[in-house]
This record gives sequence, structure tokens and C-alpha cells, in this order.
Amino acid sequence: MTDEPENTNRPEGEGGFSSPACAAHEASPAYAGYASLPQRPFAATGKNVSLLGLGTVKFGRNTGVKYPGGDGFALPTDAQVEELLDTALACGINLLDTAPAYGVAEERLGKLLGKRRERFFLVTKTGEEFDGEKSEYVFTAEHTRMSVERSLKRLDTDFLDCVLVHSNREDVKVITQTPALETLARLKEEGLIGSFGVSTYTVEGGRLTVDMSDAVMVAYNAGYVDEKPVIDYAREKGKAVLVKKGLASGHAAGTAAQNIRLVTSTPGVTSLVFGSLNPKNILANAAAIGQN
Ligand SMILES: NC(=O)c1ccc[n+]([C@@H]2O[C@H](COP(=O)([O-])OP(=O)(O)OC[C@H]3O[C@@H](n4cnc5c(N)ncnc54)[C@H](OP(=O)(O)O)[C@@H]3O)[C@@H](O)[C@H]2O)c1
Repeated sequence: MTDEPENTNRPEGEGGFSSPACAAHEASPAYAGYASLPQRPFAATGKNVSLLGLGTVKFGRNTGVKYPGGDGFALPTDAQVEELLDTALACGINLLDTAPAYGVAEERLGKLLGKRRERFFLVTKTGEEFDGEKSEYVFTAEHTRMSVERSLKRLDTDFLDCVLVHSNREDVKVITQTPALETLARLKEEGLIGSFGVSTYTVEGGRLTVDMSDAVMVAYNAGYVDEKPVIDYAREKGKAVLVKKGLASGHAAGTAAQNIRLVTSTPGVTSLVFGSLNPKNILANAAAIGQN
């Protein structure tokens, strides 16, 4: 059973992300009181992550998305991406989630993170390739290794904290009949990645992921609780649970705050990864945690 200690301090050194970069930004009165998000241990990595994480689909991709308003929204400028990153850090958010399938998100983060890199627990994915119109899924050993090496280059880093298989809906087949997970296990042994898992769709796929890896990413919000048994199982096994679509991609039943409170008060949830291009929404989402 995972014992989920709340860690509201910013530990120094191993397990912590306390570099003084962006201190001026964080010292702004606008952020007073925000840098207190609870943290959770991320499986057995020895690192703690904030209960909210920032997703980056909208940093790099504006086609084939399901947000209100649909495709074609303006991608944020470099200055806006930096403001979103700094706002997240100022709120105590230290987990970033990205993927090769998020258009130019990885390249943009590689260019713009700079010193912020060391303060974030960086999650990316492998297996889905998006060409601007459609997705193709490739789970071979060669592709998995190439994808991780490409993410390291694009993100301008020498280490990825977690890599998830970006599964299609046939997650059980991907887990049991492709070499994607065993290739990630090898990359972990080689020290290029700190942990691995699968972003899943089914309860069976989620449970298999928990048995075979460090982390699972599941959808969960007030209008969709089908994968909750995976969260319970991961909790029993001490594995990390990332929640995607916690706001139902902007179509959530109820308010954002209600969904955030539901997800983050669920035992077993390590971090709710939400997407936003609006610093005010990042601040509001962080504030919603305090109302748990
Ligand atoms: N298969 C996978 O692995 C997978 C699939 C989907 C998502 N993900 C990950 O999970 C992340 C989140 O999922 P998501 O982007 O689909 O959706 P989401 O987080 O459920 O919803 C994002 C939407 O909610 C809006 N929003 C955020 N905070 C709000 C607030 N306080 N009030 C009102 N609206 C608010 C955002 O609009 P604004 O921009 O206006 O704030 C955005 O359009 C992704 O970025 C990605 O990292 C992974």
C-alpha cells in the first residue's frame, strides 16, 4: 500500500527541485501563498512530484484536438510558453507532461526550458506519431529506442524522468504483444530514463501496466470514473498514477475546481496533469487544491 506522505516543503538535492531560477517571478506578490502544492513520491524513483502537473498538448499542437473551439487556436508565443512555465513553477507545479505526438511541444520545451529543466520532473511518451492530420502507432524496439533518443535531443536534456508508451485503444495488445515496455525497461537500466509505464485506456491494460512498470496514466474526471479500479490497484502496489483528461479536455461535468478536487482527493493519484494556455487557470487550479 502506498503511504502517501504530503510533502509541502521543497527538499534540497535528491528528490527535490529547488533551484533558485525564476525567484524574481515567484517573489511577485501575485504568487504569494501559491508555492505550497502537496507533493507525492513518484513510485520508487526517490523523487517527489506535485499533485498537479502541466500538460503541453496545447504548446505544440492545434489540429486533431478535442478542446472547446476545436482546431486552429493560436499556439502560444515563446514568451507565453515561458510565462506558463514560470506560473506553474510559482504555484509549486514541478511535473511536465509532453509527447512526440504533441506537434512541436517537445522542441519548444527544449528551446525554452533552460534552467527550469532541473526543477521539473519531465514525462514524455513513445509510440504515437502525429503528422498534423493523423496518428500512426509504432511499438517496435527500434522505434521505441529511436523515439527516446529523439526526445532527449528535442528536449535538450540527458535524462527523462519518465517515458510512457502512448498506447492506442488496444492497450492490452500493445503491452503483451509488442517489445515497447521491455525496451523502456532496458533504457531505464542504461540510465537514460528514470521510470516508465503506459498511458492506457482499459482497466485490464491499466492493471497489466501496474504489474509490469513504474507508472500508469489513466483518464479520470467527474463524468468518467471507469478506470478508477486502476488507481486503486496502483495504490496497493506503490506505483505512480498520472491522471489525464481530469477536466475532460475542457468539457467536464461541473466546474474545473470540482473536478480537480475529486481527482486530487482520490487516494492513489500521484499527479493530475491538466492542460492550459491561461496563467489565470493555472493559478485557479492550484488554488482549488487548497480547498480539498
Ligand atoms: N493519451 C494520452 O497520453 C493523453 C491524452 C490526453 C491528454 N494527455 C495529457 O494530459 C494533459 C491534459 O489533458 P487535456 O489537455 O486533454 O485536457 P484537460 O486538462 O482535461 O483540459 C484542458 C482544457 O481545460 C481548460 N482549463 C484548464 N483549467 C481550467 C479552468 N480553471 N477553468 C476552465 N477551463 C480550464 C483548458 O483551457 P485553457 O487553455 O483556456 O486554460 C483546456 O482547454 C495533456 O496536455 C497531456 O499532457 C495525455
